[in-house]
Amino acid sequence: MSPKPLLGPCDSYQLEPFAYEWAWTMARAQENNNWAPEEIAVAPDVADYKDPTLDPKHKHLFVSVMAQLTTFDIERGDDAAETFLSVFQPAEIRHFFKRLVWEEGLHTRSYRYVIENLGIPLSIYDTWKTVPAMKARVEMAQQLSEPVLQSIKRQIEGRPYHQMDLAEKQALLRSLVFWFLIFEGVWFWVSLLGPVQQLARLGRFKGGAEQFTYIARDESQHIGFGQALIREYMVQNPEAVTDDLLATILADTHRAIDLESEYIAYCLKDGPILGYSVNEHVATAKFFANMRLGAVGLPQPFDDAYHAFPWMAEQMEIRKEKNFFETRVTEYQAGGALSFDDADEEGMAGPEEFPATGVIPPRTAREVPTEAPAEDDKKSVRELFPEDDPYFQKHEQSQWDDPLAGLK
Ligand SMILES: [Fe+2]
Ligand SMILES: [Fe+2]
Repeated sequence: MSPKPLLGPCDSYQLEPFAYEWAWTMARAQENNNWAPEEIAVAPDVADYKDPTLDPKHKHLFVSVMAQLTTFDIERGDDAAETFLSVFQPAEIRHFFKRLVWEEGLHTRSYRYVIENLGIPLSIYDTWKTVPAMKARVEMAQQLSEPVLQSIKRQIEGRPYHQMDLAEKQALLRSLVFWFLIFEGVWFWVSLLGPVQQLARLGRFKGGAEQFTYIARDESQHIGFGQALIREYMVQNPEAVTDDLLATILADTHRAIDLESEYIAYCLKDGPILGYSVNEHVATAKFFANMRLGAVGLPQPFDDAYHAFPWMAEQMEIRKEKNFFETRVTEYQAGGALSFDDADEEGMAGPEEFPATGVIPPRTAREVPTEAPAEDDKKSVRELFPEDDPYFQKHEQSQWDDPLAGLK
């Protein structure tokens, strides 16, 4: 047993010695990724938004995605502060959660910056209540936090977290899987890197797309931290990982994908835009659901998943060079000597940097398909690049698609 169990007992005010140095290191890496919404050039987006020739489908898609993610970031920050930050006891774990909560607030401000500059009506902030698919997703997240709040209530009444019963430990694991792997790892991830990036590829809302890549870089760390935390939690509480719980997580995942389908169908309610359809979005969401669950050793539920948008990684690479290498590193590196590659290594580390204390083998050996069998024109991310591409010499798989590929 760890000298500082995740649920205690331990002294939350005693920082060192670390038991989870990876959490501290990841929080430090995030500090080297500091950015501000004002760095984003939104003037072209203002022109796009006011352009009378703008395709109404493009406008609706952009505003709808912005509406959902604005609400999601508020909800995510609030939830992390109100549940996980209380439950987990080691100081270094809580330290990462504090950084995560701050970043969700930054993301909220960033959306508002774009919304305000474009002059999008304030009714955008009501969208989550008026669009059933968005409301259902916000409520699903609330429901999965409710049992954790009950555990916190019991702790306040005098029963410490390490005395949680089996049902509570399972509810906590279910909530962790949902928030990190589904909410951030699928819902957020695909919306950040999918529809608005495609609009930018079509020449519209490039500032919004750039904003989303900044946010996605933060989210990749949140997901990676969550994967490490979930693995550690399962190692320390193996009795929680029962077949019944796996069935519940499977049902949660299917429900999350159903809601994702309804949401993107609303965003594309007047039909697909060039290069982006509901079916492709959903297949990609399933692809990431398989990837996220597989990364912590859980079953990968979708046989019909595929990555329909291999340009996601390409888009991130181009933007990384533009934003993070040429502009931001020199302005924002707090550590002085770090090059982008160094920050890259810190931020997207493999197992040697962020080990869980145990290894949970995958419950299924099935590989995630990277292309739809019936469609010849779908290519894996790797196939888009030349054989000797230096990026893939360093990373076996795109860091943007898979923040902690080495942990799998
Ligand atoms: Fe966020
Ligand atoms: Fe996040």
